[in-house]
Amino acid sequence: MDKYVIAGRKRLEGVIRVSGAKNSTLPILTACILGRGCCVLEDVPRIQDVLVMAEVLEHLGCSVTWEGNRVRVDNTGLKLTEISESLMRKMRASNLVLGPLLGIFGQAKIASPGGCAIGSRPMDQHIKGLQLMGVEIKEKSGFIMAKASKLRGADIHLDVPSVGATENLMMAAVLAEGTTLIRNAAREPELVDLQNFLNGLGAKVRGAGLDIIRIDGVRQLSETTHTIIPDRIEAGTHMVAAAITQGDVEIQNIIPEHMESISAKLREAGVEVTLGEDSVRVRATGRPSAVDIRTLPYPGFPTDMQPQMMALMALTEGTSVISESIFENRYKHVDELRRMGVRVRVEGRVAVVKGVEALDGAFVEATDLRAGASLVLAGLAAEDATIIENIVHIDRGYENLDVKYRELGAKITRISHGGVR
Ligand code: EPZ
Repeated sequence: MDKYVIAGRKRLEGVIRVSGAKNSTLPILTACILGRGCCVLEDVPRIQDVLVMAEVLEHLGCSVTWEGNRVRVDNTGLKLTEISESLMRKMRASNLVLGPLLGIFGQAKIASPGGCAIGSRPMDQHIKGLQLMGVEIKEKSGFIMAKASKLRGADIHLDVPSVGATENLMMAAVLAEGTTLIRNAAREPELVDLQNFLNGLGAKVRGAGLDIIRIDGVRQLSETTHTIIPDRIEAGTHMVAAAITQGDVEIQNIIPEHMESISAKLREAGVEVTLGEDSVRVRATGRPSAVDIRTLPYPGFPTDMQPQMMALMALTEGTSVISESIFENRYKHVDELRRMGVRVRVEGRVAVVKGVEALDGAFVEATDLRAGASLVLAGLAAEDATIIENIVHIDRGYENLDVKYRELGAKITRISHGGVR
């Protein structure tokens, strides 16, 4: 298993560029199924989850070719409509093929994605919406079988503003007969990016980013070229890296309004955040102030930044209360952070963090993507060396994280099976 070795207490200084958004790329890759011919995607992050989604598309019969961070998806060979259990187990977001396969073939079969380290991750909202659109759903022996002679538009009210359910329903609706309304829709920026991609194919989608999305079905879609929006969670992770090392970092390739909740929380913690047109400069001198954090659907504070902020709150002069309201089990990073001297107590979905003056380097293990990121951040600030095992979790969502942080002055090395890389 690959690991990171981080020598602590290095101020990060310099300029870093954010890659394209993982959580935009994944639904847009599956949406390529809906078009006819070849789609070209620019600024695609070369990360593990995206490589797995490319494998899923190739399994279905598409061809996926890379030129640097440009990806071409040709779906003329598309023929299969089911995803094997082994592929689903590699990445639960493979469930995003459900909507597009139903849109094109009127049928799909996927293994139930099951839970993961952060929660049970149900799909009831996906299923409820698809059934309203005339899809017959059978769940048997760990598989979800979906079939519809003709998808018809429906008025759908989601119980929770689920990102994945909103995406699957948008993609199922673009070729359906009539109009679909998705109410209480997720408002994350990645939904707007998906809308823009679908409209580039010739779809008629309006309202993404608001809580009601309207889709007027069309007869067929074509091909398009699209640039993926910057990854706001990667950007937020780098902002915390600058803050926790009391550094001075300019983070390039961001969309300022996507960073509002993270910027506001860091400013509240005494960090200097200066937003530019497509960049943000983050400076910190001295320990952060303790702030309380409640994760919420966008535009609230993102759950995907909760573990990273916990690492920063570990070094305040006060006590922070963190409430994780999105996922029921997103504190897997707590045990590992405790090994580094973080003083934190968890009661249900609430974590109380009592700041300490310094963190200790330790042997720790990444348990999931953002938990791994929080360990890297804590390691950058710790008094001595930290070794992080199982960094395959970090590779899922961050492109060359160690390379990017070394360029800012961090002493971070990747140790692979075959030695230093
Ligand atoms: C997306 O997951 C992201 N993944 C997650 O990012 C992110 O944490 C999450 O949205 C919330 O913002 C991708 O976009 C690939 P949800 P998703 O459906 O779509 C409940 C990362 O680190 N729910 O919005 O699976 C669910 O249990 C990952 O990049 C239902 O109850 O999240 C959860 O409590 C982690 N029924 C809440 O909604 C459903 O049918 C939010 O889940 C669906 C969801």
